[in-house]
Amino acid sequence: MTKKKHKPIRKTFLIFGSPRIEEAEIHEVVDTLRSGWLSTGPKVARFEDMFRKYMGTRYAMALHSCTAGLHLAMVVSGLGHGDEIITTPMTFAATANVITHIGARPVFVDIDRHTMNIDPNLIEKSITKRTRAIIPVHFAGRPCDMDAIMSIAKKHRLLVITDAAHAIETVYKGQRVGNIGDMAVFSFYVTKNVCTGEGGMVTTNNKDWAEKVQMYGLHGMSKGAWHRYSDKGFKHYQVVLKVLSTIRWSFLVTNII
Ligand SMILES: Cc1ncc(COP(=O)(O)O)c(C=O)c1O
Repeated sequence: MTKKKHKPIRKTFLIFGSPRIEEAEIHEVVDTLRSGWLSTGPKVARFEDMFRKYMGTRYAMALHSCTAGLHLAMVVSGLGHGDEIITTPMTFAATANVITHIGARPVFVDIDRHTMNIDPNLIEKSITKRTRAIIPVHFAGRPCDMDAIMSIAKKHRLLVITDAAHAIETVYKGQRVGNIGDMAVFSFYVTKNVCTGEGGMVTTNNKDWAEKVQMYGLHGMSKGAWHRYSDKGFKHYQVVLKVLSTIRWSFLVTNII
């Protein structure tokens, strides 16, 4: 029997994580360098505002990575030592790593073989007295069954913090996933749909958590650089929160969008 020859879909190898950098992006970088705002400045504020509107949430806070965002989301919502947090094994290591960073225990619930996402039918079997939260991951941008997950969370009084690293454009039943659950966290790492070099964003409708994520993301300072040094003049700040030692301060040109 002769083997059927398949026509190649493309002639060149498709590199994973090679974003398209065009003139507009190069212009933004040069514009940023010329502006002098190399740390969190007006472009980050604009990015947060655009993201918040796109997701339909009240708040969006830019951070240095999705990992930092997941970590802070757990800390500000009171999760910590001894808690059990349900998540999926079908994800990147960061999802479970951050659970261990706060002294909690990741509890893996298997995936649905068709969606590759956490199987809601298996979640309740893994809930114990120590379970405090569920971290679903919209794997490769396909939405999890959020109705089922939210109803389990409501029944057992669990938090839902979504790892939406792959899911900027993901819509579930007409709603952007950043606006479902207690908090959602996105990544702008080089392999992601929107890339800033490295970076992350937390979305929520909870004012207290939003303020804390912003403060913890900036050493516990009451005002970010944009508010301290904007063209309205220098404003003093207070360090009002204890700084966490395990936030990953990876390099990010935060001003590039
Ligand atoms: C599902 C998932 N969660 C979290 C992360 C961590 O993202 P970041 O590199 O922005 O910290 C990644 C990154 O690849 C990811 O794929």
